[in-house]
Amino acid sequence: MTLILGIETSCDETAAAVVEDGRRIRSNVIATQIDLHRQYGGVFPEMASRQHILTITPVIEEALSKAGISYADLNAIAVTYGPGLAGSLLVGVNVAKAIAWGRDLPLIGINHLEGHIYANWLIPPNLPAGQEPPPAPTFPLLSLIVSGGHTELVLVNGHGRYRPLGRTIDDAAGEAFDKVARLLGLGYPGGPAIERAARNGNPQSFDMPRAWLTGSYDFSFSGLKTAVLRAVDTFQSGQDRAKRGGGLPRPSEVAARAAAADLPVADLAASFQAAVVEVLVAKTRQAAQQFGVKLVLLAGGVAANGVLRREMTEGLPVPVRFPPPALCTDNAAPIATAGYFRYLAGERSDLNLDVFASLKLPAE
Ligand code: KG4
Ligand code: ZN
Repeated sequence: MTLILGIETSCDETAAAVVEDGRRIRSNVIATQIDLHRQYGGVFPEMASRQHILTITPVIEEALSKAGISYADLNAIAVTYGPGLAGSLLVGVNVAKAIAWGRDLPLIGINHLEGHIYANWLIPPNLPAGQEPPPAPTFPLLSLIVSGGHTELVLVNGHGRYRPLGRTIDDAAGEAFDKVARLLGLGYPGGPAIERAARNGNPQSFDMPRAWLTGSYDFSFSGLKTAVLRAVDTFQSGQDRAKRGGGLPRPSEVAARAAAADLPVADLAASFQAAVVEVLVAKTRQAAQQFGVKLVLLAGGVAANGVLRREMTEGLPVPVRFPPPALCTDNAAPIATAGYFRYLAGERSDLNLDVFASLKLPAE
């Protein structure tokens, strides 16, 4: 049996997990900072790293105790070293290095995006007793990573073997959800709030733009965000507009207006969500066909979105898999899983491991 401790502090979740043989979650502890950052409408980096310092040790100890093991039972420690907020990553990486040195354990640095993909290897924790776990994904496959910081379409030819096909040229999909939620007065984090609001809306009520960027697998979501802003603006009174001299309103103004309940929030949320999902599905379908893959894996926080999961499943000619929602958003179990496969391949990081805020997936 191989037991890996995963540590994840790249953004606003302080997380540690113990995973057995790459697939079975023995424990998965997350101290979320959402309440702390909500007042700022997004992650406040300096506060995030300070909060990680306060919670990382208790979170790791809880992960070990829930797994029923001690440091002596571990085979290795896997830690996210990028991409992410440098000050946040530093906390996880330094704690991981200290444990590795103090307990004489192998250390394995993990790319956060790789972690998101590997969430698909984990056995869902809510699997009914007696039910066979799903088989592990097989290569070659196509993965769509959609998170708060990234939107990447990548061919995966084997463990750690990536061929990036395209990425966002401006906002990430999750970032667009968060910004639009703010415009609609829906708060932070925006993704789940938009999904909830959209349930009561008509996705055809507003004609939102789709940036097809034909001929490439790149994405663009910033025009969509501006379209929502302009749609919101048309609901503002002529007097308000005159005061601003016709320019775009500040987000705080719009949020105040949205709160005044004269904005069709549900229709705007549904129309925005439909536009994002349509582009993600169409580009993923095209890549799946062009490269003849037999499996598509969704990954990252936006992969928790029910409409995206449904449309992707219905719209693609090959099986589509996605982790349970709680394993899509940031947590340490997938980091341990990615670490397990690198551990098996004999990979080790040394104690010079440093953080890398703009780390990319390694291309083959
Ligand atoms: O992967 P993640 O937890 O953190 C990053 O690595 O960025 O992704 C967070 C992003 C946020 O932008 C959040 O709004 C979005 O995922 N998200 C969702 C949903 N749940 C989280 N977006 C759409 N629908 C959801 N249900
Ligand atoms: Zn993430």
